Amino acid sequence: MASNSIRRHSPNFLAAKILAKVLQGQPLEDALYEHHESKDIALLTFLCYTTMRHYYSLHQRLSDISHRPLDHMDIEVKCLLLLGACQLQYSTLPAPLAVAHVVTAAKKIGKTSAGSLINAILRRYDSTIEPSMDEARYELPQWMIDRIKFDYPNDSDEIFRTSIARAPMTLRINISEICSSDYCALLQESKISFEQTALDHAITLVKPMSRSKLPGHEEGYFCVQDLASQLPVSVLEPQPEHRILDACAAPGVKSRQIADVFPNNYVDAYDIKPQCSTWNIAKDSGNSQNLVFKQGDLTTTSWWDGSPYDRILLDAPCSGSGTLSRHPDIKVTRNEVDVSEAAELQFKLLNSLWNVLAVDGILVYSTCSIFIEENDRVITRFLENHQDIVVEPIELPIGRPTAFGWQTLPKAQAYDGFFFARLRKQKISS
Ligand SMILES: C[S@@+](CC[C@H](N)C(=O)[O-])C[C@H]1O[C@@H](n2cnc3c(N)ncnc32)[C@H](O)[C@@H]1O
Repeated sequence: MASNSIRRHSPNFLAAKILAKVLQGQPLEDALYEHHESKDIALLTFLCYTTMRHYYSLHQRLSDISHRPLDHMDIEVKCLLLLGACQLQYSTLPAPLAVAHVVTAAKKIGKTSAGSLINAILRRYDSTIEPSMDEARYELPQWMIDRIKFDYPNDSDEIFRTSIARAPMTLRINISEICSSDYCALLQESKISFEQTALDHAITLVKPMSRSKLPGHEEGYFCVQDLASQLPVSVLEPQPEHRILDACAAPGVKSRQIADVFPNNYVDAYDIKPQCSTWNIAKDSGNSQNLVFKQGDLTTTSWWDGSPYDRILLDAPCSGSGTLSRHPDIKVTRNEVDVSEAAELQFKLLNSLWNVLAVDGILVYSTCSIFIEENDRVITRFLENHQDIVVEPIELPIGRPTAFGWQTLPKAQAYDGFFFARLRKQKISS
């Protein structure tokens, strides 16, 4: 987006444009990133995240007072209504002002004729009405509610609660740059409150803040990384001479962790996406001595040079169902078919990568999903197709064992839902 338009347009105008893109499939994080230099980025973030987090209840309250179904309206008009409802429900702005801002934004977007419709609906909006439908009460689509209840009958209430909460901000301290105690001292000097976590080199900020305002941002002293997402790398346990493959590496969060924690190992990081500015890597850390980023489709082996890897991390593409508090757009934009398609791709990737793993080597399979279909069920199918796999036990400070791996369930103010399994390749005697 050109900087001119960033300056020209109101937060409601920009937020409506962003949300329209999100409802058409662009991840919220990416759509918002296009405006990261806007002076209104904090307000834009609040408007977009709060609207997506409470999409289902806002949608129901609006539908109850609208003569026309919301989903039949022009997408930007629908987004403006959701944004208006969000501000009436969750901001301290006086209601007439909130409505006026949205109506003005509608005119600027070129939806002048919708202005009176938006005005009429928002003036009837009643924020005190408790929504009755499950989707609105849990802020989730019905298929996700059913699946979570089925997969986790004893934990579903906490998963539902967590999915609406704001995600915490956890930092992984780059121990190759600074030791944890020195970094914590820097935070204390800057009067930034934080809490220790179950992991030695990870701390959670009491209040999330812009990473550029944290001490050591320029020096690369930390990476913003969810606590549970730090666990798969911790079970790789390579020997110093081992070659590591970080498979499905973009945007490079775990690649950086591997390079930091195992500085003596050679690491190939592959993804189907080319390396680009949204990769979470410092300018000078890509293609450093021990870490090389490459592009390749890992469902094939055409990218492979023929030298087997001793350790593989397959951080597979997935539904992201363990990260709903961090990525509230997922619940609105994904469907059940996406989950089955993800499971199919995960199985394909596992099969292909098993060919490039050395005998006695270890592959760690991980997803940020809580759905069993993408986790234990993929492993079950994989085991049925291979005779040379030993499933190794995992024991970690957070989470619980599953049939073949380890699962963390999302926990408010703490961490996301993640699954991982540790598979060793054994020699088959002929
Ligand atoms: C969960 S993300 C990986 C996150 C990454 N490991 C990190 O920690 O930053 C899954 C990645 O799989 C990649 N991917 C999907 N299909 C792929 C394929 N056939 N070959 C290689 N990468 C693929 C996607 O581009 C996406 O970046």
